[in-house]
Amino acid sequence: MKTYHIKTYGCQMNYSDSERMETYLQALGLSPCKDYKTADLIIFNTCSIRQKAEDRVFSEIYKVEQLKKKKKDLLVVVTGCMIRKSSSRYSTERDALFPRMAALDIALRIDELPSLASLMREIQPALDIEAIEEESLEDYFQINASHSSHEAKTQAFVAISNGCDKFCTYCIVPYSRGREKSRKMEDIIAECEKLVEIGVKEITLIGQTVNSYGLGKADEESGKFANLKEKEPFVALLEKLDLLHEKGLERVRFTSPHPQDMSDQLIEAMAVLKTQMPYLHLPVQSGDNRTLKRMNRTYTIEQYREIIKKLRAKIPDISISTDIIVGFCGETDEEFEKTLKFYEEMAFEHAYIAQYSQRRGTTADRFMKDDIPQKVKKQRWHKLNFLLVKMAERGYKRFLNKTVNVLVENQNGKTCMGRSEHFKAVQFNSGRKLLGQIVPVKITRAREILLEGELV
Ligand code: 5AD
Ligand code: SF4
Repeated sequence: MKTYHIKTYGCQMNYSDSERMETYLQALGLSPCKDYKTADLIIFNTCSIRQKAEDRVFSEIYKVEQLKKKKKDLLVVVTGCMIRKSSSRYSTERDALFPRMAALDIALRIDELPSLASLMREIQPALDIEAIEEESLEDYFQINASHSSHEAKTQAFVAISNGCDKFCTYCIVPYSRGREKSRKMEDIIAECEKLVEIGVKEITLIGQTVNSYGLGKADEESGKFANLKEKEPFVALLEKLDLLHEKGLERVRFTSPHPQDMSDQLIEAMAVLKTQMPYLHLPVQSGDNRTLKRMNRTYTIEQYREIIKKLRAKIPDISISTDIIVGFCGETDEEFEKTLKFYEEMAFEHAYIAQYSQRRGTTADRFMKDDIPQKVKKQRWHKLNFLLVKMAERGYKRFLNKTVNVLVENQNGKTCMGRSEHFKAVQFNSGRKLLGQIVPVKITRAREILLEGELV
């Protein structure tokens, strides 16, 4: 039997796509292989959000080149966000990739996954794989994720939409993943029901702008959600999932929402639904209005502040984290200082801080100057990171001597690891087998990025 090995880079969406790929490859009769060196097919599911991410892929592919010299019939596929423009299989984008990737056989946009089998056969006509009906798969979202990466089957990621219509000027996603398209609500619910049946207690819904589910231009044109007149599709979805609480679903999280679509309806749903957790990751990107405008982030800091105020009014102890880019085109010292101030004011408990990385083809690349020196970007990153650590510590310390509910995701001997409702990593000891259970833990120590405690 032929074997495959998938190397995944980047965000949860890519990991979810890799699980979809697994289902597809197994239907072709291929089996997984842990060591890429012995696999017959190696797939790189790539990320291009920043230059560093792409560089990492290039260096890994280089290793495979050496391998391919010895193993002539090894097939190498590159997919994910480094492959753009779906117009033709041999578009100029792709041609540009081939010279830099001598080992590459197939460059495939992720939504073209259903055609992978025929592409493989084209290259190796003698390849022994099962027949699969390409036409029966209208879009790649219809291929179910294998959910194999969480052995404990306590927690799972479920993609609800793909692509983005927002076009932030720095971001490659609308070009790499295309326009926003939502999955049918019935398909999502059916997948979640199956997960709950096998014991999954926590589901994280994922999408580039997850809370605009059903509101994208393509969804509007298709009239897919026309029956939901009063209710936003995302809120309707959260309510439907909440009904699975009776069957054992305890927690529903979602990432990443966009501030523009953080409606009152959604805030209310977060406050009242049993499966909603007191945690939100809400990317702000900058604490300065002029920078937000250059980034085409469709809100002001005043509007963002208002959302946080409403959230805290309804869910008083909610933990909030964010994404911030430092050193974006034209960011002055004063603008950056405003971000620092805003970070403190919002009392963010965690953040992913990125130094701006110019991406080819984006609006910022075409019309703005990447004029902040590397050294300054780095300094700003360290300054903000220093504040992040200080604020994060505060966020952890507030749980000292409190009892939190922990979903045990990992148990190694006596050591149990899991997350609290506020999405804090918690570690404690127990002689009992607790994997997959939600247990109360009294917090005795708050470390830099970890809470320690004792089973109550
Ligand atoms: N440079 C730096 N960071 C970026 N992000 C997206 N595009 C870029 C870029 N060109 C960050 C944003 C986003 C997160 C997923 O990655 O903060 O929220
Ligand atoms: Fe990129 Fe902006 Fe879309 Fe997020 S909302 S994926 S940052 S374009």
